[in-house]
Amino acid sequence: MSMGRFISLEGGEGVGKSTQAQMLAETLRGRGLDVLLTREPGGTPGAEAIRALLLDTQFDWDASAEALLFAAARSDHVANTIAPALDRGEWVVCDRFIDSSRAYQAGGDDLSDDAILSLHTIGSMALMPDVTFLLHADGDDIAARLAQRDSDGSDRIGGKPADYHARVAQRFRDLAGSDPERFVLIDANGPPDAVHERIVRALASMLGEGG
Ligand SMILES: Nc1ncnc2c1ncn2[C@@H]1O[C@H](COP(=O)(O)OP(=O)(O)O)[C@@H](O)[C@H]1O
Ligand SMILES: [Mg+2]
Repeated sequence: MSMGRFISLEGGEGVGKSTQAQMLAETLRGRGLDVLLTREPGGTPGAEAIRALLLDTQFDWDASAEALLFAAARSDHVANTIAPALDRGEWVVCDRFIDSSRAYQAGGDDLSDDAILSLHTIGSMALMPDVTFLLHADGDDIAARLAQRDSDGSDRIGGKPADYHARVAQRFRDLAGSDPERFVLIDANGPPDAVHERIVRALASMLGEGG
C-alpha cells in the first residue's frame, strides 16, 4: 500500500504556482498515484467562501483579521479535504499553504511567526507539508505574466504595494533557508515545461526515486 504525501507550492504572485501544481498533479496521476489537487485559500465550499471575502477589494482587513480568516479557511480545508485524503493514502498537491500565511501576514505585515504558527496549531493540528517547493523568478518576467493574467485588475492582496511584496519574497527565502529539509527552491524562470521538469527532478531526490 502506498503512503500519501503532502506537497505544497509557494511563492509570490504570478510565479507559476497554479500552473505547476496542475502539471505536477497530472504527472503524479500518470504514475498511477491517487492525487488530490487543491488550493488555498479555498479547497472546501466554506474555505472558498472565506477566500472571496479575503480577496474582495471592498474590504480592508487588517493583518490580524486577515490571519484569522486564513487560519479559519485552512482549518476547514485541512479537516474536510486534506487530512481525509492523506488518511486514504492519496498524494495532496496544494497551491499555497501555511508558509503563505507566514510570509504574507508575518513577513509582509508585522505579526510574529509564532502567532501564525499558534493559529495553525489551533486550527489545523499544526499539519506541515512533507515537501514545499518555493518558486522564484525574475521580477520582469513576473510583471509580464501578471499583466496577462490579471488584465481586469489584481485582487486585494495581489494589489498591495511593491515594498509589501518584497518583504513577502524575503520572508519566503528566509523560511526556506531555515528549513532545508522541507523546502526546495525552484527556479521558475523559463517555459512551464522546463520548470515542471525541475520540480519533478527535485521531488525524486527529496523522496527517493521509488517514492
Ligand atoms: N513558466 C511560465 N512562463 C510564462 N508564463 C507562465 C509560466 N508559468 C505560468 N505562466 C503564466 O503566468 C501567469 C501566472 O501563472 P500562475 O500559475 O497563475 O501563477 P501563480 O499561481 O503563482 O500566481 C498565468 O497567466 C500563467 O499562464
Ligand atoms: Mg495561482
